Amino acid sequence: MTDFSGREPRRLLVTGALGFIGSNFLSYWLDRYPEDLVVALDAMTYAANPEIIDLFSQNPSFVFCRGDIRDTRLVEEILDGHRIDTVVNFAAESHVDRSIADADAFVSTNINGVYSLLKTCRKYWSVGRGHFRRFHHISTDEVYGSLENSDPPFTENSPYRPNSPYSASKAASDFLTRSFVKTYGFPATISNCSNNFGPYQHPEKLIPMTVLKLLDGHAVPVYGDGRQIRDWLHARDHCRGIDLILHHGKPGETYNIGSRNERTNLEIIGMICDCIDGVFASDPGLSGFFPRCPAAVGRRSRELIEHVADRPGHDRRYGVDNSKMVAELGFCPTESFEEQLCRTVGWYVARAQERLSVVQPESKQQDVRQSEREQPETESSESELLEIEQSERKPPEKVLSERNLPVSGQPEDRL
Ligand SMILES: NC(=O)c1ccc[n+]([C@@H]2O[C@H](COP(=O)([O-])OP(=O)(O)OC[C@H]3O[C@@H](n4cnc5c(N)ncnc54)[C@H](O)[C@@H]3O)[C@@H](O)[C@H]2O)c1
Repeated sequence: MTDFSGREPRRLLVTGALGFIGSNFLSYWLDRYPEDLVVALDAMTYAANPEIIDLFSQNPSFVFCRGDIRDTRLVEEILDGHRIDTVVNFAAESHVDRSIADADAFVSTNINGVYSLLKTCRKYWSVGRGHFRRFHHISTDEVYGSLENSDPPFTENSPYRPNSPYSASKAASDFLTRSFVKTYGFPATISNCSNNFGPYQHPEKLIPMTVLKLLDGHAVPVYGDGRQIRDWLHARDHCRGIDLILHHGKPGETYNIGSRNERTNLEIIGMICDCIDGVFASDPGLSGFFPRCPAAVGRRSRELIEHVADRPGHDRRYGVDNSKMVAELGFCPTESFEEQLCRTVGWYVARAQERLSVVQPESKQQDVRQSEREQPETESSESELLEIEQSERKPPEKVLSERNLPVSGQPEDRL
């Protein structure tokens, strides 16, 4: 691991900090650099994890601010009020299926929002040039389009060929960031990362959705033939890559972050099924909580896999060549994919168990779910665990009604 001893503390603004990767980044950064200040800005859309606010509420290095990257005045207040020297932009609309249904929010946040954030940060940077260090924009490998199985993976020089409204809006945000570097000399970097997995991902996404459906005994849908290939990287390894870029990356550069770990969706779903079977085998108590899961009665979870119609314009393969990150910044994903995936599955199982304990008191819980197991399953019923998980993501009332304007050093800002 790179030695950062003797480094000067930083003052970060992290946008979209309550989202999946933002949440992992907060944990990573506050743990690794306790001397830094981290101001988390998030609009708290359906994709946010409100529980993260409580998780760090006692940490004096953490400030939460509910707000939008398009709110110029608010962003100015944060930059000035906290003397921010580093901005990491995770804020985005990021769910491809939603962009296919309606792309308005994607254009608004990913294009207009990033433009607004860049404009505000550039103004702040141009006033105190020596102070501001870096604007880092988080992007995706999806901007490069789709590969054939025989193609080499994407490099930083691959042409942009976005295929979904989501990836097109991310491509536009990358171009805007690049234009600020070339036109104004603004010290920005961009990273294009492969598929992330890990804790705090939204239950609509492949891994948490598969876990929750299996636990509830529901069919697990696989788009088309399931042979779409993605390169999977743990969110914490992504954060390590961002850390390296912030400390050693060159302003104006783009870096591809990936792990050369290409898997088909079908392979991933199969591995999740096997992890679930393993978790139940090592903890027989889980059968009482999730009686409808095949593993609860000694059957294989794989029996719930079901192929459904493919998503329109579904990209076939993404693969990331990370050699620039490896050669220039010493990037190296840390652990075996299989272990990280099973740990992640275990995290979602433990979380579902915890959520269920809150929703159904312990005495009632076993009886209710046990009797449900004896009923034939209704075709239309949506996964109860998915519904519980979704409802937990609603922003708490107290945060919704506040506008937490940050002023450095005031304890009430550190929610
Ligand atoms: N998840 C992946 O596998 C993956 C892979 C590569 C790149 N990325 C990129 O990483 C970034 C973060 O992805 P994620 O999976 O954590 O996304 P996410 O959807 O889980 O989180 C996005 C966060 O941004 C917030 N947000 C949305 N609009 C906002 C606005 N206008 N102002 C302020 N906050 C706003 C949301 O409330 C949410 O908390 C995105 O830019 C995405 O394109 C994600």
